[in-house]
Amino acid sequence: MNPDQPSDGSMWDQRFAHDHFAYGKEPNVWLKSVVETLSPEPNPAALFPADGEGRNAVWAAREGWQATVFDLSAEGEKKCHRLAAEHGVKVAYEVDDLVLRDFATNHYALIACSWFHTPPAVRKKHMPRMLHALAPGGHFVMEGYHKTQLNFSSGGPKSFDLLFDLDEVLAELTGPEAPSMDVIHAAVEETVLDESDLHRGPAAVIRFHLMRTD
Ligand SMILES: C[S@@+](CC[C@H](N)C(=O)[O-])C[C@H]1O[C@@H](n2cnc3c(N)ncnc32)[C@H](O)[C@@H]1O
Repeated sequence: MNPDQPSDGSMWDQRFAHDHFAYGKEPNVWLKSVVETLSPEPNPAALFPADGEGRNAVWAAREGWQATVFDLSAEGEKKCHRLAAEHGVKVAYEVDDLVLRDFATNHYALIACSWFHTPPAVRKKHMPRMLHALAPGGHFVMEGYHKTQLNFSSGGPKSFDLLFDLDEVLAELTGPEAPSMDVIHAAVEETVLDESDLHRGPAAVIRFHLMRTD
């Protein structure tokens, strides 16, 4: 597959064009548990790739981060601004595609994403490229579904290709196309999700916490 093939966001627009929040209004548990240990001072700039309806970014904004989301979905943008207004915070939201995005370099103290699954060719090329947007010392936090999630019914892509293999993804995120990254946590875990009707029950996930060192 062409790694520079843009994605179609219409499926996500359909998912988010409802009154309820597809993945709930609370932040992802793994992202929250790591970000709570970090300080938005002295650099509050934080990027939330593929944050959909903005639940992670809005929570982070409440914690003092200057949150920016990029995501394919214009409907997600509306929901994010609604959730931000409910909490009296602001989040910058850019409808954009990972493959097309022009990232600021050496900028963010935090990049955090949950359930950001793309075709492998896109992930291999563009996730390491995205990590150059971290400032030195900046943190990357991610949760996604592991390949064995196909045994569970708690959400995630139904295509084996779109699911994550720990060693493969870790090699990409710490490989020659990425900046120099320390691995603070990288594991396959079995957990019990309780985010929404779409993400509820036993699940097989990968959880990363990396830090840019150079
Ligand atoms: C399963 S949803 C997760 C949303 C959010 N991270 C959460 O946990 O609530 C996946 C999100 O990835 C976004 N997405 C998928 N491919 C993308 C791409 N190439 N560039 C930007 N966003 C993308 C979709 O628009 C959607 O909002």
